[in-house]
This record gives sequence, structure tokens and C-alpha cells, in this order.
Amino acid sequence: MKKMTEENLKSAFAGESQASMKYTLFADIAEKAGKANIAKLFRATAYAERIHAMNHLKVLKGIKDSSENLLSAIKGENFEIEEMYPAYIAVAEEQSEEKATQSFKWALEAEKVHSELYLKAKKAVDVDKDIDINEVYICPVCGWTHIGEPIDKCPICGLKFDKFKEF
Ligand SMILES: [Fe+2]
Ligand SMILES: [Fe+2]
Repeated sequence: MKKMTEENLKSAFAGESQASMKYTLFADIAEKAGKANIAKLFRATAYAERIHAMNHLKVLKGIKDSSENLLSAIKGENFEIEEMYPAYIAVAEEQSEEKATQSFKWALEAEKVHSELYLKAKKAVDVDKDIDINEVYICPVCGWTHIGEPIDKCPICGLKFDKFKEF
């Protein structure tokens, strides 16, 4: 693929991904304000942007089988854990940006779990098995990811466990 088109696809993938996420969050706000049709419009458009993002990523050959997808996911998580978030946290702390520091730290803690789980998943997939997990629980405040027996509260932000979202 020609370099400029590749860069444009990457940029469009990033933009469409962000639009999809924003519209999903905007839909929740509209829903809570009692504007069901505005929420519907945001959700439908978010789905369309997701399709655009998927199509761009397909052309970039960024979607493969689960083993390769997990490798890509592990690399992404590890980059965030080892380079991105530590650097961002250092700058935010230096600049006394408390909210940004907390947001970065919350993400960093969960990414460590994600990386481990993806590694387990890759080992399973590579011997043609599925990963051995039941429910996955996500803290709706900080994104902490928990697997296994219920716990009392979020170890990162302190939210009661009964507020966790179950997958
Ligand atoms: Fe993650
Ligand atoms: Fe939390």
C-alpha cells in the first residue's frame, strides 16, 4: 500500500473510533435527560462510525485470527503499561494535573490485568482451546477488571462490588 494512503487510513481509523466512542457516551447523556430519540440517533451513528472504523482497519490488514489479534492486543496493552502511561503520569504529576493523573493511573492498573489475561488467552488459543474463565467484572468508575470470586470493593477506586458490570 502507498504510504500516504496507509497514513490516511490510520488517521481515519483513529477518528472514526473516537467518534463512535463519543457518540456512545453522548447517547447515555441524552438517555438520562429523557431524550430517547436523541439517544437513538447517537447510538445508530456510533454504530455507523464503528463500521467505518472496521472497514478502514480491514483495508490496513489489522484484523486477523484470534492468536494474532491477541498478540496485537498484548503489544498494545504492554506499550500502555511500560511506556505510554508512565510517561503521561510523570508529566501530569509534574504539572499538578490531579484529575489527569488519576485517570491515567486508573487505566494503567487495569491494563496490567488485561495484558495478563490476553497472554493466558493467547496460550489457550495457540493449543486450540478457549480461555478458562467464567464472569468478567468491570468497575464502571475506574475500569478495574476482575475475574473469579466476588470481592468486597474495587481495589483501585473503592467502589462497592455490587455496582460492577458483569460480562
Ligand atoms: Fe486495556
Ligand atoms: Fe474502580
